[in-house]
Amino acid sequence: FVRLIKLCRQEDCARMLQERAEQARRGVYGNKVFVRGLIEVSNICKNDCYYCGIRKSNANCERYRLSKAEILECCAEGYALGFRTFVMQGGEDGFFTDEVLCDIVSAIKDRYPDCAVTLSMGERSRESYARLRAAGADRYLLRHETADKTHYEQLHPASLSFENRMECLKNLKEVGFQTGAGFMVGSPGQTDAHLAKDLQFIRDLKPEMCGIGPFIPHKDTKFRDEKAGSVETTLILLGIIRLMCPNILLPATTALASLEADAQMRAIRFGANVIMPNLSPMSVRKKYALYDGKAFSGTESAQLLDRLRRKVEEIGYEVVTDRGDFAG
Ligand code: 5AD
Repeated sequence: FVRLIKLCRQEDCARMLQERAEQARRGVYGNKVFVRGLIEVSNICKNDCYYCGIRKSNANCERYRLSKAEILECCAEGYALGFRTFVMQGGEDGFFTDEVLCDIVSAIKDRYPDCAVTLSMGERSRESYARLRAAGADRYLLRHETADKTHYEQLHPASLSFENRMECLKNLKEVGFQTGAGFMVGSPGQTDAHLAKDLQFIRDLKPEMCGIGPFIPHKDTKFRDEKAGSVETTLILLGIIRLMCPNILLPATTALASLEADAQMRAIRFGANVIMPNLSPMSVRKKYALYDGKAFSGTESAQLLDRLRRKVEEIGYEVVTDRGDFAG
């Protein structure tokens, strides 16, 4: 994998990878690009991940939490726009007990039985995951961040453990979620050997989804002076993952869009087949700042779905608004 990554940094190899990845994805998903409406439910978090702008100890972060009514309002708006998957993402906010979260999930599923609900709410117990699944949640995103234990410890405080993250991912699969892992590209201390481990990990875990985005420094973290990850390397990794796992769901992430206006379309051409436009109330979008320079009103916004449709069509793909489940 290290050799492959290095090779693919050469232009001719990158082009070959892109062609193969495009072909592999076309074989499973045709020219479809799935969209998910992202609802950033809370930026309150009990964790202190060194890279993240909403980490607990960031006193400059203005905290918010959406109410159940506000979340349902986002879904109503999203449904009217055509979204058939809602992703609730947030910090590890103790307010969202199983009871609270299950109630919101079942309310969404009651109103929109034709929609999928994805959760991205961090590490929870196996029992909690099982209850959320029983309440109707379909998918769960929990990036592994890095598949190397020592590197994991360079990115997280001691209260978070690599073993527990792995355990959570195993539990999510076992309780029946379509499960998403994923990692940052170019996070501080990362080498190509680490990326190779991430690829091995994805190959072995076989998650239904894999979120990959470049690391982007945030001014209120100790990584403020680190440089951002590379768009090119992210594209290469998307292509390799598409070839290894032809039927995986691979988002073209907002972090990519934040570094380069055109990067999400480039990602689609390297095998990405999911885009998650932002459905959060406008007033909170700036507050949900995991990194600096988050994209704000291009293709990452749910309200601009038509603009996204046209951009996707320009490169020969088609935005579809069904649930967009994993093609098992
Ligand atoms: N740069 C890029 N991605 C980040 N994330 C958190 N902080 C950053 C950052 N500074 C990613 C993590 C997390 C996801 C929700 O956002 O991978 O899992």
